[in-house]
Amino acid sequence: MEGKKVSERSGTLDDDPFSGRHPTSHERLTGKPWDASYHDGAPPWDIGRPQPAIVRVASKVGFAGAVLDAGCGTGENALHVASMGLPVLGVDVAETALAIARQKAADRGIDVEFAAADAVHLDRLERKFETVLDCGLFHTFDGDERTRYVASLASVTEHDGTLYVLCFSDEGDDTGPHPVSRQELRAAFNPASGWTVAAIEPDRVQTRYHDDTGAPAWFATIKRS
Ligand SMILES: C[S@@+](CC[C@H](N)C(=O)[O-])C[C@H]1O[C@@H](n2cnc3c(N)ncnc32)[C@H](O)[C@@H]1O
Repeated sequence: MEGKKVSERSGTLDDDPFSGRHPTSHERLTGKPWDASYHDGAPPWDIGRPQPAIVRVASKVGFAGAVLDAGCGTGENALHVASMGLPVLGVDVAETALAIARQKAADRGIDVEFAAADAVHLDRLERKFETVLDCGLFHTFDGDERTRYVASLASVTEHDGTLYVLCFSDEGDDTGPHPVSRQELRAAFNPASGWTVAAIEPDRVQTRYHDDTGAPAWFATIKRS
């Protein structure tokens, strides 16, 4: 796969590692499907436990209703929220990550659902959620893709529902790859796109390659209008 050019359209490689979907900008850039990140052990973001920011907010604010974890990876955040008794669906395009997530759920005896879905076409789920988590997905999208993702999130979030976005920030030392600014968050999530930003707080994202303090992040609380 390495060295082969991944075109804007899927289906141009010998076998289609994108299962018929449009490769994301990240996949076109790296020349690999997201799934490949999970083939040789844990990828850099997969810390084997929920992100502290999600744990903190889940216990302090308390998530409500049906919860969607968009780009759930191997499911630590979804599993954490499900273990608090909420109905949770984690979606991802990486089948390998989903298989690991399902195995963790079985091993831990946690009732949670994991499904393959493209986050830019969440309307295809034909479901609605009161709470949506994005832990490390928004910052992987570029330009038009962001617009499509924001609309897709709006299509599955109940009126007055809450979206939490934890993403790499562009402020501070040792920023993660693809950091975003507060302005970019505000530009993406605005009243015209069906969202009102309630807060954007500085936070931290743990990774496997940063020290214990993690990387600078934004924790955004965004309401569906
Ligand atoms: C940086 S990882 C974060 C994973 C997980 N949230 C975590 O905190 O460990 C981004 C995840 O989003 C998934 N992803 C990327 N593009 C996606 C898309 N269009 N639809 C659904 N998932 C996507 C990737 O497969 C990957 O698992």
